[in-house]
Amino acid sequence: MAAETTGSADGTTTAAYDQHADWYNDFMSADGPGGYIRRVHGALEGLMEPGEGACLDVCCGTGAHAPVPAGLGWAPVGVDLSGGQLRHAAGRLPVAQADATALPFADASLPAAVCVLAHTDLPDYAAVLREIARVLRPGGRFTHLGVHPCYIGAFADWSDRPRIVVDDRYADHSHTFDTWSPGGVRARVGAWHLPLADLLNATTAAGLRLVRTAETGPGGIPDLFGFLAVKA
Ligand SMILES: C[S@@+](CC[C@H](N)C(=O)[O-])C[C@H]1O[C@@H](n2cnc3c(N)ncnc32)[C@H](O)[C@@H]1O
Repeated sequence: MAAETTGSADGTTTAAYDQHADWYNDFMSADGPGGYIRRVHGALEGLMEPGEGACLDVCCGTGAHAPVPAGLGWAPVGVDLSGGQLRHAAGRLPVAQADATALPFADASLPAAVCVLAHTDLPDYAAVLREIARVLRPGGRFTHLGVHPCYIGAFADWSDRPRIVVDDRYADHSHTFDTWSPGGVRARVGAWHLPLADLLNATTAAGLRLVRTAETGPGGIPDLFGFLAVKA
């Protein structure tokens, strides 16, 4: 089945997850052998701070992480492009179907936002960061958590752990289905790559001030990288 296309501004965004939503929901619901989901939630909890009011989960997918902001006192609200993903998320948090580059919220209206495991699904994460900064109030908090830009991508082969082989595709930003893991999500929907410096520079350029960063992995090499930033 072909991925459903949307009318997004750049013409490239697709609701590719529609056809994988049931698989994705199972994947995110069962903590695999490496305790991946548990580590995602632990890292998110460590970066976020307790608070009150709405916390926008940008690209919320199936809403698998809603318990983390909820546990810190926030009221999670999800936005995603994929109706298939939102079908699962709707039982976990209030949701809206929308493009992350055109969030259906007023300027400076929200106290907090998160974006988890999604920056590699977006052709222009810098535009999403600018949009998040637009809807956050001054002093509002944004937590990013994603695959580690230095060690996860088409350029990194994890098949011979503990050795991770990184090649010169690190500099390649383009969308690709190349992956060392044929059973994983990237073989299904592909990924864009955003090098670490580009990610951090896009964040500060959006008017978000870095407060702290975190990285975690199954062993010595981190597979997750995140940060807490505050709208100036
Ligand atoms: C890897 S999933 C992550 C979902 C969730 N945050 C999680 O950690 O389980 C990426 C999500 O981004 C969504 N997505 C991709 N492009 C989007 C866009 N332009 N606007 C909103 N959501 C988008 C997809 O539909 C998908 O649910």
